[in-house]
Amino acid sequence: MITEIVTIKDPCTPEARAALARAKEILSRGGLVVFPTETVYGLGADATNAHAAAAIYAAKGRPSDNPLIVHVKDPKDASLYAETCPLYDRLAAAFMPGSLTVIMPAKESIPKTVTAGLSTVAIRCPLHPVAHALLCVSGLPIAAPSANLSGSPSPTCARHVIEDMNGRVDMIIDGGDCEIGVESTIVKIDGEDTLTLLRPGAITPEMLSRVAKTVNIADAVLDRLAEGETVLSPGMKYRHYAPHTPLALLKGEREEAIAYLRAQPGKIALLCYSEDLPIYEQKLPHARCYPLGERARMDEQAHRLFTLLRDLDKENCDAIFAPLPPKVGMGMALYNRMIRAAAHHIVDLEEKEQS
Ligand code: TXA
Ligand code: MG
Repeated sequence: MITEIVTIKDPCTPEARAALARAKEILSRGGLVVFPTETVYGLGADATNAHAAAAIYAAKGRPSDNPLIVHVKDPKDASLYAETCPLYDRLAAAFMPGSLTVIMPAKESIPKTVTAGLSTVAIRCPLHPVAHALLCVSGLPIAAPSANLSGSPSPTCARHVIEDMNGRVDMIIDGGDCEIGVESTIVKIDGEDTLTLLRPGAITPEMLSRVAKTVNIADAVLDRLAEGETVLSPGMKYRHYAPHTPLALLKGEREEAIAYLRAQPGKIALLCYSEDLPIYEQKLPHARCYPLGERARMDEQAHRLFTLLRDLDKENCDAIFAPLPPKVGMGMALYNRMIRAAAHHIVDLEEKEQS
């Protein structure tokens, strides 16, 4: 398949309108269009067309039991596809359009291919102007997972998408770098005033608690699943975001990390807080050090994480090390992605023990 690659910075220009009209045509006949959102790029198809949704799974190499998020142009459109409720309306008023996905009972308008046979459907209304324009011009709800090959980090710029999807989709819309850089927060509505957090993102549990009385955190968000344990969100059981080079997370202070890393053999790479870069470069001349972002700027770290993981994997290092993020605020999203990328390998520098 030949993939058309177009750049849209401003969806109102005549060139952008022409490209969006072609995207509409592709979606209407069941084709695949990759588009930018403020979280990560999405691999989109008409969410009401079962065949089109099936093509998404094939293009990504995604297991068919892992459901897709349905993107809508307006939070109100959710009621066409899901049984909404007053808590949904409050979440929509507080966080939509934006980086929140809400899981609710599905209506028949959404084919089983999209929900992977579940009775629920995930709904998101993105804020990105190009995603919004595509939803409006196409007049369709768009089913879209992240536009990476299954198992690799989600794409946060067009280069990542082209690496994974060129030749597998009809069109790629390059809308520049995704502002947030990690996927949306996913919550399931579990009662009148109760949410369960299935995937942390830029909308933090603290923010959700201002809208819902109870915010439970699903076990798989922060912990390793026990053998055979059932998951609330099928995606949580797959090894995700995993670089081919082994990644280990360091729990402890900088001086302890330096002593530990000095003793590591082979070619090693280190992701570190930006303010620590000079000292690591000085003390660890054998390591390649990359700034992840300032320690206090978890948004900056989230924005860079997937690009760094992709790029570092090409350097043929023997091991990659990174600091273990705190679990608070947006740190929870970083923690969740990083423990998966590291296959739960945490080095406790205080105990000098590996788990
Ligand atoms: O930021 C995002 O959410 C991006 C952009 C493109 O919107 N999308 C994204 O989709 O990250 P994906 O497919 O890579 O991740 C969606 C996750 C999967 O883990 C899937 O299992 C879960 O959402 N999910 C979808 N529908 C669900 C449902 N009905 N019940 C439970 N989990 C669901
Ligand atoms: Mg994904």
